[in-house]
Amino acid sequence: MSNAQINKRIPNELLSRLSDFVNLNMGLYFPKDRWLDLLRGIRSAMPEFGFEDMEEGVRWLLSNPLKQSQIEVLACHLTVGETYFFREPKSFEALEKHILPKLIRARWQNQKRIRIWSAGCCTGEEAYSLAILLNRLIHDIQNWNITILATDINPIFIKKAQEGVYREWSFRGTPYWLKEQYFQDRGNGFYKILPQYKRMVKFQYLNLVEDTFPSIYNDTNAMDLIFCRNVLMYFSTKQVEKVISRFHQALLDDGWLITASSETSHIFYSQYITVNFPGAILYKKGAFESHGYTRIEEGFSTGSGHMDENVSLYEFPMKSPVKMAPEEPPNQEEIVEETPAPPSPETIEANFEKIFQEALQLYAQGHYENVIDLLLDSVTQQEVHTKAITLLAKAYANRGELSNALSWCEKALNADKLNPSFHHLHAIILQEQGEPDKAITALKRALYLNPNFVLPYFMLGNIQRQQGKLAEAEKHFENALNILSEYEQEDLLPESDGITAGRMRELIRVTMNKEMPA
Ligand SMILES: C[S@@+](CC[C@H](N)C(=O)[O-])C[C@H]1O[C@@H](n2cnc3c(N)ncnc32)[C@H](O)[C@@H]1O
Repeated sequence: MSNAQINKRIPNELLSRLSDFVNLNMGLYFPKDRWLDLLRGIRSAMPEFGFEDMEEGVRWLLSNPLKQSQIEVLACHLTVGETYFFREPKSFEALEKHILPKLIRARWQNQKRIRIWSAGCCTGEEAYSLAILLNRLIHDIQNWNITILATDINPIFIKKAQEGVYREWSFRGTPYWLKEQYFQDRGNGFYKILPQYKRMVKFQYLNLVEDTFPSIYNDTNAMDLIFCRNVLMYFSTKQVEKVISRFHQALLDDGWLITASSETSHIFYSQYITVNFPGAILYKKGAFESHGYTRIEEGFSTGSGHMDENVSLYEFPMKSPVKMAPEEPPNQEEIVEETPAPPSPETIEANFEKIFQEALQLYAQGHYENVIDLLLDSVTQQEVHTKAITLLAKAYANRGELSNALSWCEKALNADKLNPSFHHLHAIILQEQGEPDKAITALKRALYLNPNFVLPYFMLGNIQRQQGKLAEAEKHFENALNILSEYEQEDLLPESDGITAGRMRELIRVTMNKEMPA
């Protein structure tokens, strides 16, 4: 099909609108020189939408806001599914030799917790490579609380990832031991990832341009590493900027963003510290903004190929001396002692509300440290406001400070034991701490108090699936779906940081695909 043939059938104006529409809803960018690819994808999607005539189908697509199910169909026809194990080995080498050993040492003593997100995980090779790498680096991994979240917009890819069965082509360029030690040979050139590594990865549907993140409700918060490779190269500049700055919020202060070598850019990643490793450039979040540091690049001493630990990451800015005008002594006669009247309860409430709204805004922007500073001041000075306390708990959870998160959540529970959302939040924090059984108890409490609360059912299903209790998990997912049937697609679910009913249905559907025993 040539450009001329396409243009005969689809007017340019319509193609241009279609391209904007796909970009807006999915991030994918099809400029004029890629309209042929766009058309090919749309053409193969049309039968699923029930159209034979392309132009009619495209006009129909553009006439309404895209439904979740339509995004999925488009994703299956427009996304690129190219991936393999340990792709771009230099990035994995930087992780193996430098980043992970440092992180593991830092967490060894107390937390024993690592959180990694493979965003745009495709058929799962990247996420399983990470699970394998962690197993090679941590000898007592069974004592660690490891999260490897793997998300994608294409449900067919996620289903394949959940099955964990691969052909020779996924292993190209990998060392001989990979298949031998980590896969079961299923014959006919198929290899299945062994169950202990499969269990380490949690696959989830997530559209990077539409879905809420970071959020403790979909586990996209407090990440140590985010892998987003060969995904943003298909996005428009505007969408790339949006996603990158949300990744910044989702990372812990010392977290890392790993892109593909072809996606490195000083302009896009200006919020991050660019770090050169041999053969790989990675981005570190760093805390320079909040401390007034000046950024310089961390690097390697060129000869040795090892990270130069002596290179300082930061330089302190010179403070320019500030000239102060000499103070005039106060005129004693003008000083009138006044005892201010205590503020009325209305004023106190109004002040608190102002602070709380400011904290909510900071939270939405990912400035969790500022939320904490602001609220700590206000909750200690005023009578207990549980909404401030739970926001504090969430801000701490987003910073990975789980014991603080837990203690503020317990304060909220002490103030109001009958609040199901507090029990749900309690469960999330307990689960992040690696306490699934306690989390289950908290979730059951939440459901006892509100049997129509969708999120605890979803979480119960996830925990029990991870524990291998597939029948129980399915029951919880079914319960969640039953409750969801009362909602419209676009309805926001209560206490969910903006997750819609449609999206939750999708999350459950994709997760239930995993119900095949490992
Ligand atoms: C080429 S693959 C990259 C796989 C892997 N990260 C790698 O580097 O080997 C790109 C993936 O991005 C996913 N993707 C595209 N748009 C997305 C979006 N808006 N949200 C989430 N994933 C998306 C595609 O479905 C596809 O699986």
